Amino acid sequence: MALTTIFLICSILTLWSSPITAQSPPSPLLSPSPSPAPAPAPHFVNLTDLLSLAGPFQTFLNLLVQTDVIQTFQNQANNTEQGITIFVPSDSAFADIQKPSISNLTKDQLKSLVLYHAFPKYYSLSDFKDLSSKNPVSTFAGGQYTLNLTDTSGLIQVGSDWSNPKISSSVYSTDPVAVYEVNSVLLPKAIVTTAPVLTPAPAPAPVLSPISGLAPIGEKGRGEAPKSSESTNNDSSSHGIAVSRFSYFLAVAIGALLLML
Ligand SMILES: *[C@@H]1O[C@H](CO)[C@@H](O)[C@H](O)[C@H]1NC(C)=O
Ligand SMILES: *[C@@H]1O[C@H](CO)[C@@H](O)[C@H](O)[C@H]1NC(C)=O
Ligand SMILES: *[C@@H]1O[C@H](CO)[C@@H](O)[C@H](O)[C@H]1NC(C)=O
Ligand SMILES: *[C@@H]1O[C@H](CO)[C@@H](O)[C@H](O)[C@H]1NC(C)=O
Ligand SMILES: *[C@@H]1O[C@H](CO)[C@@H](O)[C@H](O)[C@H]1NC(C)=O
Repeated sequence: MALTTIFLICSILTLWSSPITAQSPPSPLLSPSPSPAPAPAPHFVNLTDLLSLAGPFQTFLNLLVQTDVIQTFQNQANNTEQGITIFVPSDSAFADIQKPSISNLTKDQLKSLVLYHAFPKYYSLSDFKDLSSKNPVSTFAGGQYTLNLTDTSGLIQVGSDWSNPKISSSVYSTDPVAVYEVNSVLLPKAIVTTAPVLTPAPAPAPVLSPISGLAPIGEKGRGEAPKSSESTNNDSSSHGIAVSRFSYFLAVAIGALLLML
């Protein structure tokens, strides 16, 4: 009998002192945070500078330079009445696409892909409601490369064949140049023929499942999840752990009681 009691006490002590390594699940939401508008400036906007300083948009910028589309865009920004609207995926949006969906495109395909991320016309955020009644809208890449826009009470989504990202922030928007961040790469079927494999988005984990250590790296302040959702996740997961600990304790106690009988 004494042995059983000691065993019981030991099990309880072990359970209660076992280290618990928990991480709150990362929140995948980007909060739309309007960047501070640049001071009223001369008409010329250096797109290379703009994309280097905002972001991180290095992957997109590299593609622009590599395909020479940066010249096309800069020329459109400099020399046209219509202006330009560019949808820029962040570096992490590019990282989400698993190879080989865009890794082995030809130079011409890459060029079309980059041109697909722009309209040869300036649109302010408030223009998207009207624009969405004109779907599908042709892009800079030409007639067959279209996007479907939706504006659901201010949530603007840019629909391509394989993705439907939202505009997560306005990087720059002063006629004639608009640059908006989108949270996925726009992928046309004409270039990417099969559905791309995306790295699984971090979903809110069920309470008792193993907790993934994979957390997206925060993007220079702007990509951070809102504080409130962080503490909600945190609260709910620690609550879940407490519950699972308690039922574990119950099971052991009942087991020990059965042994004693
Ligand atoms: C834009 O900025 C880049 C980087 O600072 C510079 O190399 C380039 O010459 C600039 N372009 C123009 C047209 O001023
Ligand atoms: C755009 O304008 C800037 C400033 O006037 C000029 O330096 C640059 O060469 C122009 N670039 C293009 C592609 O027109
Ligand atoms: C990509 O490259 C690999 C190896 O060269 C080739 O087998 C594959 O068909 C290519 N995919 C596309 C979409 O061109
Ligand atoms: C846009 O919507 C139309 C009509 O629903 C659809 O046929 C087309 O495939 C869509 N295009 C894109 C790029 O999502
Ligand atoms: C909740 O999160 C905060 C900061 O993210 C951390 O300091 C705190 O220890 C966490 N609490 C629990 C119970 O995980």
